[in-house]
Amino acid sequence: MFSSRFPLFQLSPVLIFAAAAASSSSNASTVIQWGTCVNDFESTLPADCGTLLLLRIPATVQPAKGSIVLNFGGPGEAGRSTVAETAIILQGLSGGQYNLISFDPRGTPNSNLPFSCFDTDFARQAQAQGQSLPDIDNEEALAKLWARATIDATACAKKQKTTGELIGTAFTARDVLSIAENLGEDGMVRYWGYSYGTTLGATLVSMFPEKIDKVILDGVQNPHEYYHSYGDIEEWAQSDQVFSGIFTSCLQEPDACPLAYYNPTAAELENKVWTLFDTLKTHPVPVGDLIVDENVLHGIVSNSLYSTSSWKNTTRALDMLLTGNIDEELILNLASAVVPVDQATLLAATSIYSPLEGIHCSDRAARAGTYENLLPTLRELANTSRIMGRTDMSLSMVCAQWTIDPKERYEGDFQVSPANPVLLIGNAYDGHTPIQSARNVSSGFEGSVVLEVNGYGHSSLGVPSLCSLKTQADYWVNGTLPEPGTVCQPESAPFSEASWLEVISKAYGA
Ligand SMILES: *[C@@H]1O[C@H](CO)[C@@H](O)[C@H](O)[C@H]1NC(C)=O
Ligand SMILES: *[C@@H]1O[C@H](CO)[C@@H](O)[C@H](O)[C@H]1NC(C)=O
Ligand SMILES: *[C@@H]1O[C@H](CO)[C@@H](O)[C@H](O)[C@H]1NC(C)=O
Ligand SMILES: *[C@@H]1O[C@H](CO)[C@@H](O)[C@H](O)[C@H]1NC(C)=O
Ligand SMILES: *[C@@H]1O[C@H](CO)[C@@H](O)[C@H](O)[C@H]1NC(C)=O
Repeated sequence: MFSSRFPLFQLSPVLIFAAAAASSSSNASTVIQWGTCVNDFESTLPADCGTLLLLRIPATVQPAKGSIVLNFGGPGEAGRSTVAETAIILQGLSGGQYNLISFDPRGTPNSNLPFSCFDTDFARQAQAQGQSLPDIDNEEALAKLWARATIDATACAKKQKTTGELIGTAFTARDVLSIAENLGEDGMVRYWGYSYGTTLGATLVSMFPEKIDKVILDGVQNPHEYYHSYGDIEEWAQSDQVFSGIFTSCLQEPDACPLAYYNPTAAELENKVWTLFDTLKTHPVPVGDLIVDENVLHGIVSNSLYSTSSWKNTTRALDMLLTGNIDEELILNLASAVVPVDQATLLAATSIYSPLEGIHCSDRAARAGTYENLLPTLRELANTSRIMGRTDMSLSMVCAQWTIDPKERYEGDFQVSPANPVLLIGNAYDGHTPIQSARNVSSGFEGSVVLEVNGYGHSSLGVPSLCSLKTQADYWVNGTLPEPGTVCQPESAPFSEASWLEVISKAYGA
């Protein structure tokens, strides 16, 4: 399947200081210059482009109080285009008083240091087509995926060893510090990270605690596991609960949910859908030119764990596949987010495979080496989440066989006392980053607080909430932390369609 592992916005993918290995941390030797953007970043607010491949959304309230640097996860997610596209929401969440800056991290296609292990379109296509989601008892599929992972790890070691040594998270953390120090501001770091961007942020805070002004980590990964385990197991700890949430919420909002008329219990409804997955293995359904098989349905369903705003359409599609009464346009529309529909989207999807593997696998200090050593981890993944565990198997297999070591890796224990306290945010139910990981990081960062948002989705961006907006803006603008134990309620229930833009108009009256 072609969906990347955890893109924050279900968008297509994409540093800055060319391979400046351990760059000097001196203040303001070069100050970044800002001008008009040459590329079209589809920004929703005015945008400036900077020397050093940065993109800046100026504060909507001038004079600005300073700048915040953002990372959107992956690893490998584009920074510049994502901050441009989400500018209105992020300015709303930060209180409008900061410039928002992002960059395409080392290793990503539009950075100064792209990491790409395959030269031809044919080879990239073969890589994409070699992806699969094997059941844990399917030895043949697991063996094939392992062999595919051998090809990836070998190709990267052969073609990209020098670059591969320089794209790890410790370097990107130094890049963030360099940006902060070269803005001509106070030299302190204001950083906002989502998903994998929280691992970058946890690394940044732990490497440079004395440089921290304000940091929000939202949709938090367990960084201990990211660096030291054979697989990202904890990430999927709540995925099955979010999946089940589709069915329990459906019965609570029967007028909005197309599956409610079956009038079953939530568990019966969920079982019906598991049976549908099995049926599609042996009886895939052609829809237009697309074969809707178990993998395609899995892509559609796992994509909908990001935000409940997709649940109405997902349950419509499930009902269609259950009844055979199919609206081609809806199914093809949902599928287009998870399967390439033409050569361009196929190649765009594959362009993030190498950066994702290169960054995560070189960061990963634990390398299983053999299939036999990795097998218990694969079993643990399958056992942690029936719906999502399989999606991590390909990456775990590549990292198990990775041979490039980074020139620098953060080796500490994430126990620090930063100059100013960090705010962590977790949803009550997050299918990609469970709230226990936010609590885990918080326990190591003295003075930090975890804000809980009581909804389903990935990071607080997945759950529109006025309380969450006010809490975040108050932190950025006034440095105020919420009381420990604060829980924010979402603006609306799953299956109704609240949006961040509505929440922002409510907050700012515009
Ligand atoms: C960095 O430069 C700014 C002014 O440009 C100054 O206010 C700040 O104290 C300097 N920071 C360090 C660490 O020298
Ligand atoms: C649901 O599908 C319809 C029809 O394909 C589309 O117009 C609409 O934008 C989708 N809604 C969401 C929230 O994705
Ligand atoms: C994990 O294993 C336990 C114990 O065997 C079992 O009860 C549980 O259903 C399994 N979970 C998944 C998602 O397979
Ligand atoms: C944080 O997570 C790591 C890795 O799973 C674990 O070893 C450690 O005990 C956890 N720390 C806390 C305080 O939960
Ligand atoms: C910052 O604090 C001031 C004074 O208490 C308050 O009026 C304002 O609403 C706060 N700003 C934000 C964005 O919360």
